[in-house]
Amino acid sequence: MTQVDVLLGLQWGDEGKGKIVDVLSPQYDLIARFQGGPNAGHTLEFDGKKFVLNTIPSGIFNEKTMNLIGNGVVIDPIILKRELDNLKAAGHDPIAKGKLVIARKAHLILPTHQLLDAANEQRMGKDKIGSTLKGIGPTYMDKTGRNGLRVGDTTLPDFKERYNKLVEKHKEILSHYEFEYDLTEKEAAFFEAIEFIKSIPHVDSEHYVNGFLKEGKKVLAEGAQGTLLDIDFGSYPFVTSSNTTTAGACTGLGIAPNRIGNVYGIFKAYCTRVGGGPFPTELDDEVGENLRQVGHEFGATTGRARRCGWIDIPALKYAIMLNGVTELIMMKADVLDGFDTIYACTHYEHNGETIDYMPYDIISVKPTPVLKAIAGWKTDVTKINKVEEIPANLASYIAFLEKELEVPVKYLSVGPDRVQTLELI
Ligand code: GDP
Ligand code: IMO
Ligand code: MG
Repeated sequence: MTQVDVLLGLQWGDEGKGKIVDVLSPQYDLIARFQGGPNAGHTLEFDGKKFVLNTIPSGIFNEKTMNLIGNGVVIDPIILKRELDNLKAAGHDPIAKGKLVIARKAHLILPTHQLLDAANEQRMGKDKIGSTLKGIGPTYMDKTGRNGLRVGDTTLPDFKERYNKLVEKHKEILSHYEFEYDLTEKEAAFFEAIEFIKSIPHVDSEHYVNGFLKEGKKVLAEGAQGTLLDIDFGSYPFVTSSNTTTAGACTGLGIAPNRIGNVYGIFKAYCTRVGGGPFPTELDDEVGENLRQVGHEFGATTGRARRCGWIDIPALKYAIMLNGVTELIMMKADVLDGFDTIYACTHYEHNGETIDYMPYDIISVKPTPVLKAIAGWKTDVTKINKVEEIPANLASYIAFLEKELEVPVKYLSVGPDRVQTLELI
């Protein structure tokens, strides 16, 4: 049997997962999303075109690769339909080509889940999570609360009754908030999208993925969000509602832990975060603004400005440990092209001590990052396509990170396009 490789974010999301899954997809027979939902925005660029995927795996543009939306994903039928309509309009129709299947055990995001997300965030005021307002939290709550509706339920004769029962419950909860809403339009769009979703092949992802492995085929699990947004190990409560770590690929697809192969950990040459919560290396100054502008650090899903800061080595070490990362992928090196000096956080000072891990009370006490200065390369790297062309100072930045993190960097990304990718080892 072959094994499932996993690609996931080591920071707070938006590391460039979509781009790299697309680059790697020719090596795989199946790309499988295992958690999260349309809170994700995965950007791919090739041939002068740009696509943002929310629910659909990033292998969809590769002719020979199958794509699975796994049981651990939460699906908004309206958004999934829109994604597929957009792809069709752009001449890439995955349904016609039979390249997409969805897990019948994946949970559905209802319009009222989005309302609950919004009502909750509104009530929290300045303490809000900064959720994408896609209904992710309330949908996973209904999943673990054993109330949820699943893709497979859409084909049952009493689906509408089940829907009404859950919506009644949501309306009851919403009546306790001062929150105005009108469901009519959304509900019509929801049922139209449900009819469409029924036409996509439904599978049991556990049998589907293990079937690929038995036949010796290659599978890549595509993560969403990032390790520091993991429900258990992220900066709780400023996290998403799923396990974004390698373990999530097991439960989110139905594969055993010993079926996990390579784990690709992807990170930016600096760091970003969108939404609330701690960010020790955040630069709330013109340097941060410079990173934001040069790196186009605005959310692919919500358009929100991303908070920017220097790379955080203790946080990366933590993420590597949690995920069992075997190879690193460094993204957006080009964004640092213009800097005379860049910085890397090697430790924190916290409660009078020097520590090299993320402390539990990171929410209430901001650790002070201890920064190491690194000479910039002051070279445009966006057009380099050979390892020998990597400027010496960028090569030594990579070597420094490899030494600190004890994992090799396999790929280096120097621009958003597919072709701006170098294989280092
Ligand atoms: P994901 O959620 O991890 O797939 O990442 P996003 O798509 O949300 O954000 C990554 C952004 O950086 C997108 O706009 C990509 O097009 C862009 N991008 C990816 N790799 C690079 C790179 O190496 N350099 C630059 N400048 N942009 C990149
Ligand atoms: P991709 O896959 C970056 C953040 C939100 C918020 C928190 C909770 O593109 O990397 P949620 O809507 O999940 O309840 O929001 O998580 N968040 C992301 N940040 N990239 C993402 O996905 C994200 N998905 C959620 O901003 O802080
Ligand atoms: Mg994103």
